[in-house]
Amino acid sequence: MINTRLLQNTQENLETAAQLIRDGQLVAFPTETVYGLGADARREDSVRAVFAAKGRPADNPLIVHISDLSMLDGIVKEVPEIALKLAESFWPGPLTIVLPKQDCIPAVTSGGLDTVGIRMPSHPVARKLISLSECPIAAPSANRSGLPSPTTAKHVMDDMNGRIAAVLDGGQCEVGVESTVICFDNPETIHILRPGLISQEDLTPYAKRVYVDKAVFTQIAPDAKVSSPGMKYKHYSPKAKILPVDAPDFESFQNYVLQHQQNHTYCLLFDSDSEIEGIPCLHYGDSGVQQAHDLFFRFRELDAIGAELVYVRMPRQTGADLSVYNRLMRAAGFEVIRL
Ligand code: TXA
Ligand code: MG
Repeated sequence: MINTRLLQNTQENLETAAQLIRDGQLVAFPTETVYGLGADARREDSVRAVFAAKGRPADNPLIVHISDLSMLDGIVKEVPEIALKLAESFWPGPLTIVLPKQDCIPAVTSGGLDTVGIRMPSHPVARKLISLSECPIAAPSANRSGLPSPTTAKHVMDDMNGRIAAVLDGGQCEVGVESTVICFDNPETIHILRPGLISQEDLTPYAKRVYVDKAVFTQIAPDAKVSSPGMKYKHYSPKAKILPVDAPDFESFQNYVLQHQQNHTYCLLFDSDSEIEGIPCLHYGDSGVQQAHDLFFRFRELDAIGAELVYVRMPRQTGADLSVYNRLMRAAGFEVIRL
């Protein structure tokens, strides 16, 4: 056990945090998506400590965060035209681009792959931390492996207290789900490995073809070959059993739930839904953007209040909503009730 410092967002604390990173320590920090667990991406010992603190499988690569385009030179072998255009349009922001890595990014960081996912976050605290640390920062989401990603410093403390040097508190994350992860099958094809706020529709003007990996929609076999190792692992799940219900309207959802409630049953509803008598309900917005913002926060809230079974209203699968659909389905192990 180490003493984990909770640092408020001041210049002095940012400098302290940057010094910790330079010393090879682990510091959790806010990004616009979720909190990340940061370490110097070039240091094997520090990156190993990230995997250990999270309990993360060694073959699941980390995203490397930069604060300036000039940092790309030392990290990736080449930046194709299409990547440059996307970086110009979407960075800083919630887009991770997978590119061939250089040797200074060790195999521990890339999970043994010869590529690395790069992202320039827009959160001011993240940007300052990276530039003060003077190194690319490898950062997975700052949760214990398998749990929902943290969107507040308190969530990070709940998972990581005693395991890491410090947590920088930057308030609640604006986006709420992790970045869109993409790679290029060829110079004209964008392959979405993980959906996020930046949607397939947003990316369409930049390539001849943009498609979403099938693992986003369906459970893949345990021995299947995957394009992104993170797809293999159960993810984002609170302790409570999450059960999405695909209902044509609120009334049919309500009827189903009333007939199938058990001990400690809760519901996660849209804001526009009414309450259900006799069943405690939380709400998670109406639009995809609101739902993304609230989903992981509500998952952690449901665990805190002792929920055991949670029926969830099904999000849409278009635009940014697909990111919510994907996280929910993964939390449910792709089990769904269709009415
Ligand atoms: O928004 C985010 O992306 C957050 C914040 C902290 O930046 N980070 C995050 O990291 O969500 P993590 O480690 O929880 O998820 C990274 C995902 C994993 O599913 C991983 O398999 C995939 O990105 N990934 C990373 N590098 C990859 C690569 N070289 N090829 C394919 N997939 C990669
Ligand atoms: Mg994660």
